[in-house]
Amino acid sequence: MTFKKNILCIGAGYVGGPTMAMIAHKCPQYKVTVVDINPTRIAEWNSDDLPIYEPGLDEVVKAVRGKNLFFSTEIEKGIRESEIIFVSVNTPTKTFGAGAGMAADLQYWEKTARQILQNSESNKIIVEKSTLPVKTALAMERILTSTGNEVRFDVLSNPEFLAEGTAIKDLENPDRVLIGSRETPSGLKARDELVEIYANWMPKDRIITSNIWSSELSKLVSNAFLAQKISSINAISALCEKADADVTEVARAVGMDSRLGSKFLNASVGFGGSCFKKDILNLVYLCRYYGLEEVADYWHGVVGINDYQKERFVLNMMNAMFNTLAGKKICLFGFAFKADTGDTRESPAIFISKRLLEERAELVITDPKALDNAKTDLDGVVGKISYINDPYEASAGCDAIAVMTEWNLYAQLDFEKSYSSMVKPAFLFDGRNILDHKRLYEIGFNVFPIGKPPMTHF
Ligand code: NAD
Ligand code: UGA
Repeated sequence: MTFKKNILCIGAGYVGGPTMAMIAHKCPQYKVTVVDINPTRIAEWNSDDLPIYEPGLDEVVKAVRGKNLFFSTEIEKGIRESEIIFVSVNTPTKTFGAGAGMAADLQYWEKTARQILQNSESNKIIVEKSTLPVKTALAMERILTSTGNEVRFDVLSNPEFLAEGTAIKDLENPDRVLIGSRETPSGLKARDELVEIYANWMPKDRIITSNIWSSELSKLVSNAFLAQKISSINAISALCEKADADVTEVARAVGMDSRLGSKFLNASVGFGGSCFKKDILNLVYLCRYYGLEEVADYWHGVVGINDYQKERFVLNMMNAMFNTLAGKKICLFGFAFKADTGDTRESPAIFISKRLLEERAELVITDPKALDNAKTDLDGVVGKISYINDPYEASAGCDAIAVMTEWNLYAQLDFEKSYSSMVKPAFLFDGRNILDHKRLYEIGFNVFPIGKPPMTHF
């Protein structure tokens, strides 16, 4: 079969895999190939056991894999044969040199740019899918035009807004798709080609276009605004605990103002995930680079409150449990950074675990999807940790349960059963406010929600 277009995606991660599976699914007329330097990851994408857990992903991948969706390690061949190349390699926070701990590490990105240049014999559209500092497209263009050969490259920015756990839903029906381009005839032509791909399933009015720098910046700003909303409600949760107010009631009253909106107002143990912190720090770094110290400080505060919230959670636990955690056995319900994913990158559970171990508590960790990642994250950390699948077995013999992830299954558990097998007095710290606190209190637990008065028997 001959395909209308050959699309390549470099980087088969949380973004590359699902986004390309959706394009292949919606556009049978295009051949979509996803390549990666990691052969294990590619083998997993080609197996029955996909490398990431995402509701609905298996079905989409299995419907199109081998037909118009292919996973491969042949990066150079992929580049040669494609007309449109999405780049969705990782762009983590830099850990060394200038900007360490703040700026984006663009080494993977630059390697890809050079590899595209070396292997291109025909004109190509390069699409930035990774989240990047503003003006990265300029660097990309400079690399791609550095040899002055005949091949023409048009660089577009098309940031991804999917959230993990709902990736398939978000890709199928996103609020918007954003495409930034140079406003030159060839930039606009490239932009139209990308619009045409999304128009296979998206209404045209939700495909928005902008200049390329606005597009790059919009991605960082979207994540910063989302995270800021969480830090705002988390900051208020601390005040609620002092003022006998209930953060859920406050969030409800505030969120019903349609100018503010009710989403992203769930107070929690803190936000996690691979991007919020990284992207805000990147924004802060950019602001400082341009000398905008006040703007940088403002956004840095969002990360500061998140760190405060995680530490506050540990201190609340210690305070409630008679000011010492040493020798106490604490069961963490959930380790993933949010429900419906096995991803643990920047999960608040990592910080909480390390702090609890520092206080010499013993940990039992349970999670339906993230136990393997939890083991890797805590590898080498000093202290006693066990990993148990079954939440009843995990909490048996513990002094406390601390909910880290809002998995639906935890709200369905028989807490009478857990309570009967725990050390008394038994404590429950609900870091996600997902449980029925009154019922838990009636069972006998001493209950400590986030941003609500505690319910204790003493
Ligand atoms: P990831 O780490 O899951 O995947 C990146 C992949 O790129 C890895 O498999 C890695 O092996 C591969 N890679 C790195 N260098 C390569 C190279 N030179 N050639 C080929 N492959 C290479 O990362 P991710 O979560 O998919 O994120 C990718 C980008 O998308 C980041 O910039 C991130 O900020 C952004 N983003 C992520 C999400 C998300 O939910 N995870 C959402 C929106 C945007
Ligand atoms: C986030 C954004 O929502 C996506 O739009 C974006 O594309 C993505 O980052 C990215 O750039 O990587 P994600 O991190 O997958 O997606 O998940 P979110 O649903 O945003 O949750 C992030 C964290 O905030 C989680 O730890 C979650 O539990 C926490 N959260 C979320 C709260 O604590 N309270 C809330 O009300 C909402």
